[in-house]
Amino acid sequence: MSRVTLSRYLIEQTRSHNTPADLRFLIEVVARACKAISHQVSKGALGGVLGSMGTENVQGEVQKKLDVISNEILLEANEWGGHLAGMASEEMDNAYQIPGRYPKGAYLLVFDPLDGSSNIDVNVSVGTIFSVLRCPDRKGDKGDLGEEAFLQPGSQQVCAGYAIYGPQTMLLLTMGNGVKGFTLDRELGSFVLTHDDIKVPEATQEFAINMSNQRHWEEPVKRYVGELLAGAEGPLKKNFNMRWIAAMVADVHRILTRGGLFMYPRDNRDDKPGKLRLMYEANPMAFIIEQAGGVATDGNQRILDIQPTSLHQRVPVFLGSKEEVERVTAYHQE
Ligand code: F6P
Repeated sequence: MSRVTLSRYLIEQTRSHNTPADLRFLIEVVARACKAISHQVSKGALGGVLGSMGTENVQGEVQKKLDVISNEILLEANEWGGHLAGMASEEMDNAYQIPGRYPKGAYLLVFDPLDGSSNIDVNVSVGTIFSVLRCPDRKGDKGDLGEEAFLQPGSQQVCAGYAIYGPQTMLLLTMGNGVKGFTLDRELGSFVLTHDDIKVPEATQEFAINMSNQRHWEEPVKRYVGELLAGAEGPLKKNFNMRWIAAMVADVHRILTRGGLFMYPRDNRDDKPGKLRLMYEANPMAFIIEQAGGVATDGNQRILDIQPTSLHQRVPVFLGSKEEVERVTAYHQE
């Protein structure tokens, strides 16, 4: 049986959709880094990679050893190839400068090196989320790359994807013409195309939200979740099931597999507009979900239309099956 590896898929994309060679190289390098992260994650206690670093990231969150290891793997893999003008990571305060000894390229790489890292120590799925943007023309500016270069709406992404480290390691990818899923064949060491043209069903009976925050939600979310819980006897006239894995990668992967709705709404605790990061989580996932026929909003507007104002900006997120995302978004607008 002829198998389509990631390399073959990307070469065929170059032929059919004029994917530039440097973008192809970039994606291959990111995929290689994800293989290395997958290997580290799978070692667990045997590799001494579990537990915390004893440090905090820019968001004030405790960094796990694997957060830091994954960040370094991605930086090292991507800094030398000449395809990037800079990188930004959820784990770093500022934009990462490509060292002066290497050539610079046309793209910016943005990533959450290990999403859902509270799952690491309990042996539950985690993942890497990434997004690729074009670097704006800097008009001969040879100085450091500032954060403004990255502040582009998600609709400008040229590619987005994630790797999920679960029972299987998979890579999901969009370059704006559908979503493809590749499974890591550990014997060959290659990602192999296993899920062609992934689609999110329009209707669903499954939702994901951290219910422990209920008392902090805004009214439209309280109303909507109340209706979901009311089931067949309520206004929606059907029963809903709930799942919450606490790793966005894993919750989104389930939605891409069988549909569903993922919500991390704004809450009124500390005036933060939600928990998830626009650049590292919401934008790449929104691009993937839309390319699979789903919808992604912040309750008021399409996530991909938000103009970012800072690298580590947070946003409320509602994404997944069209019918339910549109319903909860409409409740915000009433
Ligand atoms: O970055 C954030 C993250 O770990 C997401 O992957 C996940 O969806 C969410 O936080 C879980 O949040 P909580 O711990 O509040 O359930």
